[in-house]
This record gives sequence, C-alpha cells and structure tokens, in this order.
Amino acid sequence: MDQTRKTPDTLRSARWFAPDDLRSFGHRSRMMQLGYSEADYMGRPMIGILNTWSELNACHSHFPERVKDVKRGILQAGGFPVELPTLSVDETFTKPTSMLYRNMLAMEVEENIHSHPLDGVVLMGGCDKSTPGLVMGAITAGLPMIYLPAGPMLRGNYAGQVLGSGSDAWKYWDERRAGNISDAEWTGVQGGIARSAGTCMTMGTASTMTAIADAMGLTMPGASSIPAADSGHQRMGADCGRRIVDMVWEDMTPDVIVTEASVRNAALVAMATGCSTNAVVHLIAMARRAGVALTLDDLDALGRTTPLIANVRPSGKDYLMEDFFYAGGLRALMAQMASLLDTSCMTVTGKTVGENLKDAVVYNDDVIRPLSNPVYKEGSLAVLRGNLCPNGAVIKPAACDPIYYQHQGPALVFDSYPDMKAAIEDEDLEVTPDTVLVLRNAGPQGGPGMPEWGMLPIPKALIKQGYRDMLRISDARMSGTSYGACVLHVAPESYVGGPLALLKTGDIVRLDLENRRLDMLVDDSEITRRRAAWVAPEPKFERGWGWMYSKHVGQADTGCDFDYLQRDFGAAASEPDI
Ligand code: FES
Ligand code: MG
Repeated sequence: MDQTRKTPDTLRSARWFAPDDLRSFGHRSRMMQLGYSEADYMGRPMIGILNTWSELNACHSHFPERVKDVKRGILQAGGFPVELPTLSVDETFTKPTSMLYRNMLAMEVEENIHSHPLDGVVLMGGCDKSTPGLVMGAITAGLPMIYLPAGPMLRGNYAGQVLGSGSDAWKYWDERRAGNISDAEWTGVQGGIARSAGTCMTMGTASTMTAIADAMGLTMPGASSIPAADSGHQRMGADCGRRIVDMVWEDMTPDVIVTEASVRNAALVAMATGCSTNAVVHLIAMARRAGVALTLDDLDALGRTTPLIANVRPSGKDYLMEDFFYAGGLRALMAQMASLLDTSCMTVTGKTVGENLKDAVVYNDDVIRPLSNPVYKEGSLAVLRGNLCPNGAVIKPAACDPIYYQHQGPALVFDSYPDMKAAIEDEDLEVTPDTVLVLRNAGPQGGPGMPEWGMLPIPKALIKQGYRDMLRISDARMSGTSYGACVLHVAPESYVGGPLALLKTGDIVRLDLENRRLDMLVDDSEITRRRAAWVAPEPKFERGWGWMYSKHVGQADTGCDFDYLQRDFGAAASEPDI
C-alpha cells in the first residue's frame, strides 16, 4: 500500500467524526441537525469551499451559481462539500483601501481551515487582494487546496468602442476634465465599462494575481483566463471539485506545489504579461509564506530579461482578457515561453507544468506574441534604489512615456491625498511638465494600507496644455490598470521616517532608470539636519483592526505581511485538540 495515500480512517475530518466518544457524538448529532446522514460524509474527504462572495463584490457576483458547479464535482468524486463564507475584500467599495484587509482575509482563511473538520479546500476568489489573501492563508494552513479564479469580465463596450477596466476610466476622466466629453457620453461609459460578472478585464491586479496562481500550479491549468461569463468557467468549477477530492487522497499539500522554482515560474509569467505593480508586494508575501525568500532584486533581474509577450492592456497596446482567452489563454502564453520556465514543477493536477502545457496552442500571435516578437523586450517592472528609497521602489517602464526614463526636475510635495487632490484642480498651481509630483504618508502605515493613490492625477494646469504624463513618486501602490511615469512603493515609507519624509518642495529629484536610481539631489549634511528635525506623525488608529494593522504590518519590500503571520515568526500551530 502507498503509505502517503490517505484512507478514510486517516482523513483529518475523521478526528472529528469517527471516535466513539462524547465530542464526536456531538459532531455527528449536529451533522444530523444539518440534514446529513453518516452515509453523506463519513469516510469522505470534507472539502471546504471558501467562497468570497458578497453583495458588494461585483467581481464575484457569479459565485452563488459557480459554487454549485464546484459542489457537483466534489460530490461526483466522492467528497463532501461544505461552503464557508469568507471575507470578500472587494476592490471597489472597500475604503480606505482593500489592501488594509488582505492580511485579515489571510488570517481568516488560515484559522477557518485550521479550526474546522476539513480535508481540503477550494478557494474562490479573484478580485485583486482576494487571490493573495486566500493563497497566503491556505499555504500556511497547509491542507490540499485548489484556487478557483473568478475569471475576467467581458470586454467593455460603449457606442461601438471597446472599453478596458480602469485604464479607459482614467483616460475618459482626463478628457472630461479637459471639457471634451458630454454628460450623456460619460454616463454611457459608466454603463459600458463593466457589463458582466467577473474581475477587471485588463491585465490589472486581478488578472495578474490569478495568472500568478495559475503559473504557480495552484489552479486548473489555464483557469485564470476563462471569462466569468463563459460556460467553460462552470466546467472548470466542476473540475476543481472533482480534482480536490483526489488531491486529498493523494495528500498533495501546497508545499509540493509552491516552491522556489514555481515561484520563479510565476514571477516570469507575471513579467511576460506586463503585470500589475501590485504583484510585487503580493508575490513576495505569498512566496515568504511558503518559505521562499523572493526579493525585489530577484524581480528586477527577471524584469530586465523577460520579454513582455501578452499584448493586453494596460502594458500591451491593443487587447483585453477576453481576447487573451480566445488567443489560447495562459496555457498558450506559458507554452510560448516554456524555454524560460521550469516545466518540471508539480501542479494541482498531479502533473507537471510541462505535462499541463502539452497541446497548448496560440491562436492569435498578435495577442500572445512569440518571444522573438515581444511587445517590449523587457520592462514590465523595474526596482529603483537611491537616497529616496534605500529599500527599493517600483516603476513599470512599459506603462510610461520613455522620455521619463531619464528625468530631473523640482519636487512638488504633498503630505496628504486630500491636500494634493485640492491643489491639482487649481489651474494656477505652479507646475511645469518637468515638475516631479510627490505624495507621501500613503504607505502601509501612512495610508494606512498603502492605498492605490500612486497614479497621482496630472494637475489641471498641465492637462489643459495637453500633457497626459509626468514623473510622480509616492509610497502608495497604484491600480494594476493604471499607467504613467509613477514611482511607487517607496521603502521605507515616509510615515515611519523613510527619506521621502525629508524631501521638500523645490528639491531636485533625479530618476535614472537605466541605472535603477532615484535620488534627491540634496547634500548629505542637509539630509542629516532634516532628519534630526523630523517629527513622527500622529498614529492613525487608537483601537481596532487599524491599530493592530499598524503595529504589525511590514514594509512594501517584504510584502506587507504581518510580522506574526510570517512563517519564520514561530512554529506552526499544531492540530487542534478535539
Ligand atoms: Fe474587482 Fe477590479 S474591481 S478585479
Ligand atoms: Mg485593481
């Protein structure tokens, strides 16, 4: 007999249900109260479906239907499905930023799995932070798991024009500020830009993170590209259900899937898709949960050498996720770049990456380019260092005008988002195209939660002159659908005394992308003087989650996980006493 295979007696859930004692009597009695006989669940893998549906999560609005497909698969394979509602962390309505709650989701997932009689889990997520939150928690919990990505929504459409999530909202908003769009047109764009269930359909944070989970081997192969509205998405849901049951019998835990090599595959695929800058923070956090010490420098090195071959907006020029799916989806992209990947990595299918990619076909090589004809030879992400960001900062060269690759100009510094927002609408604001717009106190603690404020709006004075880009710097993140010459994730953040806190309006700032430098041209002695005079800002929270968050969150370069949730903080919790 294969010693590693689970049997009905050695299932984790059997600890709750099998013994002839008073506790187990209680558990079995409550299963009867729920309407189940022992024949329904006893000796079968109990599969938790962690469903991040909510009535305020537009990206997951199909999950009440999709979960039925997952259950169908689980039942067919002889498992027993139990749906566990899990924190939704929607991107659109959660303020000040969904990032404030990623770690709350990760912690909930870990504890939800750990405390219940589960043998394996299907994680249903997709909207930006839900992917890293679910995966981080499930990696730590360590039970067999499959990630079910929500899938992108259909292409946007208004008046015959294709609309892309985020990117086109910003673009049309600038035109509206310039007075070029009527109220009726603006309302039309509003109704047409998100017209089905599913996640943002540009290669924003959602599509980047689900692609990362896919490339890492945590989804059914290619699942991340299937549009939410496609019936293939339902079939994929049932596949997840069938497969997770086998994974339990095989005792296939995340540690055999999330390894240094699979994390590298995921990072390579992220670069090849022109990934969201948010991927940096989340991928580092996910990798560290698995004990893989991925660093900003690793990502910079991959960014320098990986061609961007997914011609999907915002980094690509022409297409959206629906087109990417029709062109063959993520499997086709991975097959196209298989020479760069470690195809021996194991995946949830029980097969290697290479086996999963067999027969993958590129149907449109303008959407999924060959390595020999990339959208950009390199440049999905670059990591900067210098006296403004000793622990790193991130820029997305492919999404900004190359004239900013080498840039020097005077800083215009704002200490808060509301101050900046008011100032940029002032048509008399003293600003030139060379000005470097700076926002601070927008990092993990300062934001708090590192809001997506990093694509600082172009001042109206410049918009009216026809400018649509300028160099901007912050310790914030930006939406994966954003674009422009935005330096982000400055670490350490200004709120905790990072050097960005010492910058003054009028100081000259220099970006040198080629040499990966970002500096303020201020004498060291002056910097020392300013540091001595710096006063830490008031704490933002005196109680509750915000207080706990600001006590324990790490900086952007280490993934913004909580200190006490990280793998090396202490030994993992042992199985609960029952
Ligand atoms: Fe949910 Fe963009 S708002 S993925
Ligand atoms: Mg987003």
